[in-house]
Order: sequence, then structure tokens, then C-alpha cells
Amino acid sequence: MSGNKLNKAAETVLEAAYAPYSGFRVGAAVVTESGVVHTGCNVENASYGLTLCAERNAIARAVAAEGPAMKIREIYITNRTASGVAVPCSPCGACRQVIAEFATADTLIHYHGEDGIVCKTMAELLPDSFTFSR
Ligand code: THU
Repeated sequence: MSGNKLNKAAETVLEAAYAPYSGFRVGAAVVTESGVVHTGCNVENASYGLTLCAERNAIARAVAAEGPAMKIREIYITNRTASGVAVPCSPCGACRQVIAEFATADTLIHYHGEDGIVCKTMAELLPDSFTFSR
């Protein structure tokens, strides 16, 4: 999977974002271990806290399509402000924990940083994530 293809998929889905409250559109593209790309955009709600982030939307679609064993190889996240520019925007804390659920320590996460696109591993982005053991 070329970074370019993942980037394009994220840019395309961003156009579908439902963001009437913030005006901030986000697009995420996940490529799984099976090589398939799944995309998601942010979906806001009048009750703000119900807003769904682009990353979690893409992951839900990946699970729905591939089932519970789905593993994320890479995820690319892009954004646009209301004035049409991309700004630094790393995945929020909730999304990091949800990405971690389907990631390995070396899953790659690409997003807009202060000096262009940043690429970090899951372990770098969320060290010591919560795991559930009974
Ligand atoms: N948003 C995402 O889609 N992903 C993130 O990681 C951070 C924030 C969305 C949620 C909301 O629609 C808008 O960005 C502003 O917070």
C-alpha cells in the first residue's frame, strides 16, 4: 500500500464529513493486514458529545466489513478547517485507545503535524494503553 493511495482515500472521504457545528472536516483511511482500505469521516450531532470522530468511523466500517479479527496496518488522517486549509491535528485520546484495540505496537499512524505529515507508531502515540484482562 503506497502512502499516496491511503492519503487520497482520506482526502476523498473528508468531502463527506458532516460537520455543521465546528466546520472542521476530518477524513481517515485505514489499511488492514488484509490490504483492504476502509474510510470514515467525522459525523457531528446537535448534542455535541455524540459526535463521531473520523478515525472511529473508519474503524467501525473496517470491523463491519472484515470482522472482529481485523488488524490495522496503517491509518492516515487528514483535515480541513472551515477556511479550507489543513492544520496540525493528531488523533484525540479516545481515538488513540480505539486504534490501539485493533493495532500492533508497530502500526503506523500518519497525520498533519506542525511541520507537515507526521508518522508515528502506535507505541509512540499511546504508550501503556489500557488493556482488559479478566
Ligand atoms: N475530530 C475527529 O474527527 N478526529 C479527531 O481525532 C479529533 C476531532 C472531529 C470531531 C469534531 O467533529 C471536529 O473534529 C472538531 O472537534
